Amino acid sequence: MDIIIKNIGCLVTCEGSYRKKREEFKDAKIKKNGYLVIENDKIKAVGEGDGYKEYLTSECTVIDGEGKTVTPGLIDPHTHVVYAGSRENELPLKLNKVGYIEILNSGGGILSTVENTRNIKIDQLVEESRKRLDIMLKHGTTTVESKSGYGLDLQTEVKILEVNKILNETHPIDVVSTFMAAHALPKEYKSDREAYIGEIINNMIPYVSENKLAEFIDCFCEKGVFSVEECRRILTAGKKFGLNIKIHADEVETVKAAELAGELKATSAEHLVAASDEGIKALAENDVVAVLLPSTSFYLMLNHFARARKMIEEGVAVSLATDCNPGTSPTESLQTVMTFACFGMKLFPEEIINAMTINAACAINRESEIGSIEVGKKADIAIFNSKNLNYLIYHFGANAIDTVIKNGKIVVKN
Ligand code: NIG
Ligand code: FE
Repeated sequence: MDIIIKNIGCLVTCEGSYRKKREEFKDAKIKKNGYLVIENDKIKAVGEGDGYKEYLTSECTVIDGEGKTVTPGLIDPHTHVVYAGSRENELPLKLNKVGYIEILNSGGGILSTVENTRNIKIDQLVEESRKRLDIMLKHGTTTVESKSGYGLDLQTEVKILEVNKILNETHPIDVVSTFMAAHALPKEYKSDREAYIGEIINNMIPYVSENKLAEFIDCFCEKGVFSVEECRRILTAGKKFGLNIKIHADEVETVKAAELAGELKATSAEHLVAASDEGIKALAENDVVAVLLPSTSFYLMLNHFARARKMIEEGVAVSLATDCNPGTSPTESLQTVMTFACFGMKLFPEEIINAMTINAACAINRESEIGSIEVGKKADIAIFNSKNLNYLIYHFGANAIDTVIKNGKIVVKN
């Protein structure tokens, strides 16, 4: 059945070239009094005024967009949404100024989530993770990237990637799978890191690739976790097996991981809070998408954010994500991330929406299918109860979603 959305107060199309940079990034291609016609799972027509009338039939569903903001379905290109348990016990530690890497190296943090994720049955892990996807969908997200990395052994890493696959097939949200065994050193390899790296390279990567369990490979390239040299070896091995590269780069300290992302021509470099000037240049020169995670900076109490304005000035394609995970960003809501992107990183509403749609699609190699409202693209649409885009970001802390359409079907209606 067809859907027509008419009289749209603010239709944010994000159309045009895919990787939006510099001046183009500042323009979200907004139409006033716009309309949108959906046929099956695709966008059939987009325009302004009365043009929708020629598509009206007795069968089609008509949505009145007056006073609403309509955007492409939001895309979350960096999450760790498949995990078991929670870590609220770390909150008092954080307030007592115990550092994130300190908690990890004393066996807590990621390693405590690994324990829980190893011990849970796959069906239960599916259900725990599905609940988070449900929340994402209700907040306007229609596609997410999901990383493994709470298994750190072949069996559990595969279990997580299988959960990605099951959720992709059974949940309205599309799930793009990333293999990230280099997320932390598991405790059983504490005195032999080389053996764990060997296990990733010689055993896990070939298995994941042969069984088509992931499209991307990621490493936590950070002081006290995996070094640039170790990440180079792991990511290069992944590439040989057909996995595209993402890097958790310079999240807390400057280790020249952004430079590594440039060198390896990664699809994306993520976090980048401590990326150097040279690192930012390397991203621009090699067309690596920067995935910024301002809710994580806030939650780690870093008191500073990734230098988004500098990156935009240098010509980097900037995108935004939740980093949804139990330690550094326990939120499913990209609307929450909008608040931090604006008030923490000083991004403008039009930049924020480009970053969460078309540039986010580029970060997961989906830009030809999703991320903008253009004829022929997938009908993934978010309708917000906001009279314009500025209002969407100005009014914070509540879910502004009115309706979510995924693959041409209404999946959320408030
Ligand atoms: O992106 N940095 C590494 N991974 C996550 C945190 C994972 C966790 O603490 O459980 C992040 O911040
Ligand atoms: Fe992350």
